[in-house]
Amino acid sequence: MAFLHRRSARDSYTDRKNPFSHALYFKLFPLHQRWSLPANPEYRPSPLEAVAYRYASFVLKSDFTREPPKGVNPAQDPNWVLNINAVFPNYTIDMLENGYFTYNFWPIAVDRTLWEVRAYFPHPRNAAERFSQEHARVTYRDLIMEDASTMENTQAVIASGAKTHFNFQDEELLLRHDNKVLAEYIGLTNGRVRVRRGGGGNHVRRPAA
Ligand SMILES: [Fe+2]
Repeated sequence: MAFLHRRSARDSYTDRKNPFSHALYFKLFPLHQRWSLPANPEYRPSPLEAVAYRYASFVLKSDFTREPPKGVNPAQDPNWVLNINAVFPNYTIDMLENGYFTYNFWPIAVDRTLWEVRAYFPHPRNAAERFSQEHARVTYRDLIMEDASTMENTQAVIASGAKTHFNFQDEELLLRHDNKVLAEYIGLTNGRVRVRRGGGGNHVRRPAA
């Protein structure tokens, strides 16, 4: 947030107490993941953002007095802004105050992925709300285009073969978890747990025989 999204999000997710946008909460499920992020309650929106916020924009939060919807702020933090739910293997739901986004990641080659993003909002009641939602949509688009640029660069580095290992730091535990789950799922490890596809398309973990 403080570096990659410095121009797009400015300091809406960071402040002096949390300059690197540390997460509020992580939860690992056997296959899936959930985490949440705080926003900066002192953020001063631009004049255009201030207009959009008045009618339900949400990506860059400005009103911290409203109660978040039930169940989306597991850490019960007053600065909560965003919950990210990753459903193994390729689906993510980003929940915010007035809507949500979903991602589908489709592998199309060994080194290419199609990333589909959809935005869901309540039906706008008037033109002002519609404007506000469009503002949220393009704000989010800019943020994830910035995210994607780092992934493309990372992929280029991996493809070059110059680095043999990538070390994940503590707060990248979801990536570590994802790698572990995937390795188990496709049978790369000989650990005590094997993952098999169960009936009805469910992915279930069973102890190895
Ligand atoms: Fe990002």
